[in-house]
Amino acid sequence: MSGLQAVRGMHDVLPEELPRWRQLEEVFRTVSALFGYEEIRTPVVEYAQLYLRSVGDTSDIVTKEMYTFADRGGEQLALRPELTAGVVRALLQHGLFQRRSLWRLWYYGAAFRYERPQKGRYRQFHQYGVECFGSPFPESDVEVIVVAATVLQRLGIQRYELHLNTLGTLQVRQRYREALVEYFRSVRSALSPESQQRLERNPLRILDSKHPADQPVVAQAPIIWDFLDAESREHFDSVRRALEAGGIPVVLNPRLVRGLDYYTHTVFEFVSPQLGAQNAFGGGGRYDGLVESFGGPSVPAVGFAFGVERMLLLMTEMPCEEPVQVYVASQSMPEEAMRVAAQLRAAGYRTVTDLQRRSLKAQFREADRLRVPVVVLVAEQEWERGAVVVRHLQEQAQWECPLAELADHVARALSR
Ligand code: HAM
Repeated sequence: MSGLQAVRGMHDVLPEELPRWRQLEEVFRTVSALFGYEEIRTPVVEYAQLYLRSVGDTSDIVTKEMYTFADRGGEQLALRPELTAGVVRALLQHGLFQRRSLWRLWYYGAAFRYERPQKGRYRQFHQYGVECFGSPFPESDVEVIVVAATVLQRLGIQRYELHLNTLGTLQVRQRYREALVEYFRSVRSALSPESQQRLERNPLRILDSKHPADQPVVAQAPIIWDFLDAESREHFDSVRRALEAGGIPVVLNPRLVRGLDYYTHTVFEFVSPQLGAQNAFGGGGRYDGLVESFGGPSVPAVGFAFGVERMLLLMTEMPCEEPVQVYVASQSMPEEAMRVAAQLRAAGYRTVTDLQRRSLKAQFREADRLRVPVVVLVAEQEWERGAVVVRHLQEQAQWECPLAELADHVARALSR
């Protein structure tokens, strides 16, 4: 805790890693727009109460993982552990449901959970997500899943499974919960200590347990499909059918319950065997009751979020970077070199100059290190004639060129 290290579980993104991040961000933006989703940005800090009322006051996220603190005025605040609750809060606070009955939104930003750090699990991480408000119909569940699948396709992430389940209506979930509690009570002593604790508070989460002791008990537990009413079944079947018709294979998983309390009907998770223990790199579902539970109108909603760091672990191909194209070298003429560089940048070329007044030889070495294809040399003799030298490094060819025609000459050199 020297203060000179990043906080445990929180990471810097260094320049060499940034091209990959930017490629992801670009795909998020493009695909969201392709489906008519608009961006929204909400604060990183919210009142802690917001998450107690949405993610759930018995969920692991709220009880064990949330960064909460009192500010100097004594308000209980939290670093957001996810972004959905904040988006719902913003929609209500600004009266957006009075303006329109359908909102398609997307977001990208940091989230915080105090979890034990390991590969793919951090205390500060980033989420990209979309939320669709205003449709109770399976078309909207399918739409958000297709958005997610399109993002993965554009990023070249192919080896994954989409796990799908339904939690049914609130009543279905309630009945299922009771049946689970009854069952788990009857086998209580066989459960891990952690699951015994969860039994009364959050029995659905026992289904998610990774503890070996729980596995045989969970395998015998009642499954939610036996509790579905006609409405819940019909919704689930339509989603399944539409995904199949759209060529998106799903794995039906009756034990998928998700770690947040707000879900009804469809829940899903994107999992990859490549990720090890933290195998879910995205998840979401329908949350028809959330807006109303915040005191808003009855607005159905569905959405998902990807964990950006986990997606990066799955991206094997290096995306193309944006390497520097031109190095402007000069023989003790830094001001002129800066003017030439400005002229090239105005023409759209990624250009750098020497900032350390080094020898010409050192400048060429630097150009080599950067793998720049073209060097523009500013030297006294040519400058007096209103010209510079353009040099193609790989071909070791160079020629003089009038300053006024520089952009054309650089274009020609770059296309060689
Ligand atoms: P979530 O499943 O809690 O859902 O988180 C979504 C994704 O965030 C996970 O699949 C994972 O990739 C990533 N993630 C979560 N915790 C960590 C961590 N400690 N380190 C790295 N990545 C992590 C939600 O947050 C919901 N708000 C999704 C949603 C949107 N549901 C409806 N709309």
